[in-house]
Amino acid sequence: TSSNVLEQFRMTGKVVVVTGAADGIGYAVSEAMAEANAYVVLWYNSNDTAIAKANRLSKIHGVKTSAYKVDISNPLEVQDGIQKVVTDFGRIDVFIANAGMAISKPILEQTLEEYRKQMSVNVDGVLLCAKYVGEVFKHQGTGNLIITSSMSAHIVNVPTDQPVYNATKAFVTHFGKSLAREWRDFARVNIVSPGFFDTKMGASPSAINEAYRMAVLGRQGHVKEIKGIYLYLASDASTYTTGSDVIVDGGYVL
Ligand code: NAI
Repeated sequence: TSSNVLEQFRMTGKVVVVTGAADGIGYAVSEAMAEANAYVVLWYNSNDTAIAKANRLSKIHGVKTSAYKVDISNPLEVQDGIQKVVTDFGRIDVFIANAGMAISKPILEQTLEEYRKQMSVNVDGVLLCAKYVGEVFKHQGTGNLIITSSMSAHIVNVPTDQPVYNATKAFVTHFGKSLAREWRDFARVNIVSPGFFDTKMGASPSAINEAYRMAVLGRQGHVKEIKGIYLYLASDASTYTTGSDVIVDGGYVL
């Protein structure tokens, strides 16, 4: 590792997979990785603009990119997706488990199906990605997993109607920290906990209003304001950082 800090942030030759990469935070992070000269594989589920976005990043930044359709809650699709990255790119240096979803309703109004849906994407999805990419990391003897959790793993934010979502995020935060210890010989694992960001998920009037009311900075974050955190964790600038949880919330949880 170079002692020059700008060199440490350079991702040249590294293969990075991002889930939920067609939208919001996932696309901003994919862009960050391409800007830093990494090879980027954008995983998407329903939004197939990911294909055009991957091509665009390749063209603008001169790096190899790809887009794969993978439902992270499906074990076979995750296994195949990981295998395909290894076949196409030769290795996986960084895996960013970012995809997630929320159904915002009081628990007394949520159906069991709605509960299961959130669990299957936010909990099973992250676990499956970690499990199968962990095999690759172990085989390589090196790896880097970054999990997008939420400030709602730390506090019960307003609006309140997200009990299942909040609990899924508490799960992945503690799961990630546990993996940091389990995988200490071959991979780093870190967590990012965003506050309210201006994505599809953060678009509700109540989220915008609560960010205005509760964040110290008095507003939502723009996705460009979280790119550097992921680049720090993905790059050699953070080689001594594992098991950490970076809160990026404009001061909401203070
Ligand atoms: P978004 O809704 O814009 O993007 C989420 C992405 O996940 C979408 O591309 C969607 O297609 C994908 N996805 C959903 N289910 C999937 C599945 N089964 N398989 C594969 N992909 C799937 O939301 P945003 O804000 O970019 O969210 C990214 C992450 O950040 C999520 O984990 C979310 O929980 C987290 N987060 C977002 C906050 C915000 O205010 N925007 C606050 C805290 C955390």
